[in-house]
Amino acid sequence: MNHFDYKQGLLYAEDVPVPVIAQAVGTPFYLYSAATLTRHFQAVDQAFADVDHITCFAVKSCSNLSILEMFGGMGSGADIVSGGELFRAVKAGIAPKKIVYSGVGKTAEELHYALTTGILMFNVESVQELAALQEVAARLNLKAPVALRVNPDVDPQTHAYISTGLASNKFGIAIEAAAHIYQAAADMANIEVVGVSCHIGSQLTTVAPFIESLHKVIGFIKELAKSGIEIKYLDMGGGLGIQYEQEKPPPPAEYAAALKEAMAGLDCTLIIEPGRVIVGNAGILVTRVIYTKATGKNFIIVDAGMNDLARPSLYNAYHDILPVLEARDDRQEADIVGPICESGDFLARGRMAPVCEPGDLLAVMSAGAYGFTMSSNYNSRPRAAEVMVKGGDFQVIRKRETFADLIRGETGSENG
Ligand code: LLP
Repeated sequence: MNHFDYKQGLLYAEDVPVPVIAQAVGTPFYLYSAATLTRHFQAVDQAFADVDHITCFAVKSCSNLSILEMFGGMGSGADIVSGGELFRAVKAGIAPKKIVYSGVGKTAEELHYALTTGILMFNVESVQELAALQEVAARLNLKAPVALRVNPDVDPQTHAYISTGLASNKFGIAIEAAAHIYQAAADMANIEVVGVSCHIGSQLTTVAPFIESLHKVIGFIKELAKSGIEIKYLDMGGGLGIQYEQEKPPPPAEYAAALKEAMAGLDCTLIIEPGRVIVGNAGILVTRVIYTKATGKNFIIVDAGMNDLARPSLYNAYHDILPVLEARDDRQEADIVGPICESGDFLARGRMAPVCEPGDLLAVMSAGAYGFTMSSNYNSRPRAAEVMVKGGDFQVIRKRETFADLIRGETGSENG
């Protein structure tokens, strides 16, 4: 459920007609609904209300400061994967003691920054990273709270690029090899073993792979306990999918019920790192038709390209595309493409689309997760504005970039 609906044939975001915003801020722009963000955060968080848990929103999915502040206000922690994400999370007022740090390539500078910030836990992904963390922590005379990210070798049955829990993926430490690394970690002077973490992939549409990996992780935690290593935090990562097209992912309550059942009796605080399920359907990308042409095939050329929304080009991902002025009956098969100089620049291919005219507005749905955060300046295109709707009001939460922003930091005779 989201708050983007037609009223009398016009697409609204909550109580604001989308063209009113387009008129005020220009196109393209990302548009988020505060009511949807709140509802989705609470749906996930409250599904775990009866167990000791921390919801650490996955910052990479949508990292706008206003949105992070909103989640922080509802008690969210953060799952971060870079120093930049830590900077954002802290700026947004998220408590460091609710921040977990994942990722295979944390640099010494980033480890230093996170250690001095006092985050809850480092999800360490290799033996070398563990050694680097010990070294940085020793220099600072601090103890680094650590979970090893174990790789359970479970197939999440999702797109290959976003599967992370298979032995062939670069993530984590093979669960069979992890026990002796835990022993080594427990012996390190500046490391404190506090958790086990696991994230098997993104856009999962069934509960089974989560449960299969959870069983493996719980077995592993029990094994560690026998050798005297007590685990406080069990971090099961993110990954719950959303509906883009015909998928029928389990609702958060079903996912939560399955997780809770599997971990009944285990004395650990559960950490979850949801991203997409909270923000995916809470944001859309609004774009305007520039031209249309029929060259053996119908093309609708819009002002948002693969630099604004990479998912279709990168993963062949499906995003529903709706006319802001509800469709006339005439439809045609068309490719909806951006202005970028690559044939891979498309938002949809071979889609039954409304017949469009220059100036028409289109809404690319389900773009709230990994939309703006994966956007770039390719073809020297300023990044889009981000706007938040709340009831009958809207606010620009990130200004559209300017041409001056494009060359900021570059040297050149005119740019001194
Ligand atoms: N935790 C870790 C360690 C992760 O790597 C990720 C996502 C998450 C949590 C959040 O997963 P979510 O709940 O959002 O599925 N750009 C791709 C998705 C990449 C996901 C990377 N990791 C896309 O647009 O589909």
